[in-house]
Amino acid sequence: MGDELLKSQNYSKLSDSFGRVARKLRISITDRCNMRCIYCMPYNNTEWFEQDNILSYKEILKLATIFSGLGVKKIRLTGGEPTVRPKMEDLIRSLSKINGIESVSMTTNGLLLSEGKAKQLKEAGLGSVNISLDTFKADRFKSICGIDGLNQVLASIQAADDAGLKLKINTVVVRGWNDDEVVDFARFARSTGYTVRFIEFMPLDGSGIWEPNLVFSKREMIERIKKNVKELVPLQNDSSEPAMLYSFIDGKGTVGFIPSMTEPFCQYCDRIRITSDGRFLTCLFENTGGGYDLKSLLRSGRSDDYIRRYILECIVKKPEGVISIIETKTLKPTINLMHRIGG
Ligand code: 5AD
Ligand code: SF4
Repeated sequence: MGDELLKSQNYSKLSDSFGRVARKLRISITDRCNMRCIYCMPYNNTEWFEQDNILSYKEILKLATIFSGLGVKKIRLTGGEPTVRPKMEDLIRSLSKINGIESVSMTTNGLLLSEGKAKQLKEAGLGSVNISLDTFKADRFKSICGIDGLNQVLASIQAADDAGLKLKINTVVVRGWNDDEVVDFARFARSTGYTVRFIEFMPLDGSGIWEPNLVFSKREMIERIKKNVKELVPLQNDSSEPAMLYSFIDGKGTVGFIPSMTEPFCQYCDRIRITSDGRFLTCLFENTGGGYDLKSLLRSGRSDDYIRRYILECIVKKPEGVISIIETKTLKPTINLMHRIGG
């Protein structure tokens, strides 16, 4: 990075070369997790980032402030599992006070979201949570997530609701593992009123088990739900949301589909990511050896203005996305492991 970087054009927003503008920032605050979901974590030999390489809350705040100055409006905290990092309420409190930040939300596996914790996070300024749940069967939960945690997660869903947090359920559907429960989840959405979002399995797992045949597609899910539950009607969709939402024809219940593999929404992508070790990913499928190193810039004492300009240089290079990888058939298990980038 030389002078040309500093002299670079004075852009003021996060526009890429495909005309997309980033407004949502996902911050992975730890790569650690208290579950071992097989579609995510490597099943053996998990190497965590060294503590020294993890951004401090102060560093995260500094970056979030810079990103907010560049037009980011929404922040989502992810992991690993974000709640395993101590005192995340302090971070939420500070993030939600940043000028221009409209909401702070979190994606969690729910294990540590007790009633007290949910209230504490809500009071700190957390607006909504997405809780992951892939099965209602205890033994299957254990084989997918690696621990015996179904009841805890069900309790955390209730706790989040009771605390007044907005709530969505994320369900990764994998053929042969839990596709037979799509109907149960649709019924759950109807009986509870929670939006259940079904996610197609993406090749970001740590063990390289992904293969095309394991992707249970949005089309197949919809067919199953229509056949066994009720007709679905598409809702007016916000194109910047990856989930395509549907309500049931009788108006009772909402489900969403995130067809990451069969109908990628890359064209409308307005999100960017920071990993817990301070790398900037302009795309889930970033192919730059794991993103751009913001941590070194922060720690070498570069000015905010320098970092801002660097970020703008990076965003211009945001790739088209998984869509081009699928089209060119160059899809392979990537270097960007889910537990390190937070989904
Ligand atoms: N494909 C799709 N979704 C995944 N998640 C984790 N790994 C994968 C994968 N390989 C989901 C989690 C959680 C969110 C962070 O990402 O279930 O909801
Ligand atoms: Fe942990 Fe979430 Fe990955 Fe499961 S999906 S192992 S809960 S980070």
